[in-house]
Amino acid sequence: MIRAVLFDLDGVLTDTSEYHYLAWKRLADELGIPFDREDNEALRGVSRRESLVLLLKGRPATEEEMQEWMDRKNRYYVESISQMTPDNLLPGALDLLHELRENGYKTAIVSSSKNTPMVLERLNIANLMDTVVDGNAPARSKPAPDLFLLAAERLGVSPQECLVVEDAAAGIDAARAAGMRTLGLGPRERVGHADLVLPDLKGVHLSDLKPVLE
Ligand code: BG6
Ligand code: MG
Repeated sequence: MIRAVLFDLDGVLTDTSEYHYLAWKRLADELGIPFDREDNEALRGVSRRESLVLLLKGRPATEEEMQEWMDRKNRYYVESISQMTPDNLLPGALDLLHELRENGYKTAIVSSSKNTPMVLERLNIANLMDTVVDGNAPARSKPAPDLFLLAAERLGVSPQECLVVEDAAAGIDAARAAGMRTLGLGPRERVGHADLVLPDLKGVHLSDLKPVLE
């Protein structure tokens, strides 16, 4: 029996994954490193530092350079999210959150992003969460299970009682490693290893989630 639904943030509840891509793309262009949407798939869900390592494709860099590039990318990203409003919630997200809570499920955010507090504030959904675990937590990032396990602990539920909603391969890997059930959003090539796969949350209701909730 599922008692809690743990939502990834970027690319699940809001389209910030596009802003992350555009910010990395701008940095890559400035550094003269080829980088396209296909390369970006591997960055989905992973931490800022790991994303930079993937983007550099083995190009040598000092710690000082790495710091400057991560800060620069984050400035570009923060610039774009500072304009966000609740209208940036993806279709279906708010309805599903309300429906889950009305039916007694606990809800949480589990994101690798250190910018989670700001995005939640812009979207005005922090009050719909029983807990928020993000990239500021002193734990290993996805694909390690740590962030999801921390959320379950805070909610007082076992991993087997959690359903994770994710758009990233690394996120599904992390949830599975935690022993949780998974709903993957997006193409099968990316999240086909989830227990249930849907294109997105548009028009999704509790009844559609029956196979993974019971
Ligand atoms: C994840 C995103 O949620 O957070 C990644 O999917 C991003 O694209 C990661 O790199 C870290 O985000 P931030 O905001 O801490 O740089
Ligand atoms: Mg995501």
